[in-house]
Amino acid sequence: MAGNKNLNAAMKAKNDEFYTQLTDIEKELRHYTQHFRDKVVFCNCDDPYESNFFKYFAMNFNRLGLKKLIATCYNGSPVQGNELLLQFDIDDPSEPKKIAHKIEITEVSDMNGDGAIDLADVRYLLQNDKNVISILKGNGDFRSPECVELLKQADIVVTNPPFSKFREYVAQLVKYEKKFLIIGNMNAIKYKEIFPFIIENKLWLGYSFPKMFKIPDRAEGKNVKIVDGIRLQQFGNIAWYTNLDIQKRHEDLILYKQYTPEEFPKYDNYDAINVNKVAEIPFDYEGVMGVPITFLDKYNPEQFEILGITENNIILQPYWVPNCKKYDRPYINGERKYSRILIRKKR
Ligand SMILES: C[S@@+](CC[C@H](N)C(=O)[O-])C[C@H]1O[C@@H](n2cnc3c(N)ncnc32)[C@H](O)[C@@H]1O
Repeated sequence: MAGNKNLNAAMKAKNDEFYTQLTDIEKELRHYTQHFRDKVVFCNCDDPYESNFFKYFAMNFNRLGLKKLIATCYNGSPVQGNELLLQFDIDDPSEPKKIAHKIEITEVSDMNGDGAIDLADVRYLLQNDKNVISILKGNGDFRSPECVELLKQADIVVTNPPFSKFREYVAQLVKYEKKFLIIGNMNAIKYKEIFPFIIENKLWLGYSFPKMFKIPDRAEGKNVKIVDGIRLQQFGNIAWYTNLDIQKRHEDLILYKQYTPEEFPKYDNYDAINVNKVAEIPFDYEGVMGVPITFLDKYNPEQFEILGITENNIILQPYWVPNCKKYDRPYINGERKYSRILIRKKR
């Protein structure tokens, strides 16, 4: 049994090993430039020797006007210590895969004066003795006391964290009231630990949906391609999650469709009408509407309020039809429908 447990942990850890491409980071980050001036940025799931998040912020340190950039590298072991083992068994989840360390950047010299550094390389950055690298006492886990101390110093956390720990990862950011911009699976929207943050306007979707991620050299899987010698895997449902204010959250969805009871039938079990396409939300319906989850990409909290999701019974009780059978998914005339977000127009 212990063997199975170890194998499961190893599988989960492997599923966390995919790396964000610089182009995807640049594509999203260009919408947030104004948030970074004089800020401490923390990339807390990032080996600075490999991470493109670290590289992006090092390259743009002066242009963004950062005060400090911190990155911490997890050693891959669930065990707290940071023993420097030279030989390890790659399938044993208790063995460190790396040396847990942190890097702190406070000055980036700009050789040619164009506002960006020419080489976002750790060795280059460390030529400046204002920048320091040091070995961590623990394993570099984002929940470890020394990483939490660094989190407290940070203003904005930006990274792609391990998907297997996404719930805990977000809960920690919310607990310490940090600003963040992170990558996550769209399925996380339906988690009972995540959706309440969406309702409370503590978390929303960013702009882009990264698709191709770099994976380790030996990794196999569906949808793997090798582009310019780099092993990339395609993922279908990845999004940016943030609590930084962005322009698109203030843009109204233009509504053109008129409500008719035939086109927008009521559910059997929810006191709400069904809307199949976000673009077809009726402009003249004042009650509760069930809309596809992709609505979140268009959500402006001044235009709509989110009331719940027809999944995991999250904040739904008031919207049940009296005496109906309480299924999670909505039904129409006995037919099971897709999961929906329940919304209401504000104005
Ligand atoms: C999806 S990968 C992304 C890596 C990097 N942030 C990027 O975007 O290229 C998640 C990373 O988190 C690391 N990780 C896993 N568990 C962790 C933990 N408890 N604390 C910190 N990092 C962890 C993994 O080793 C992995 O490198």
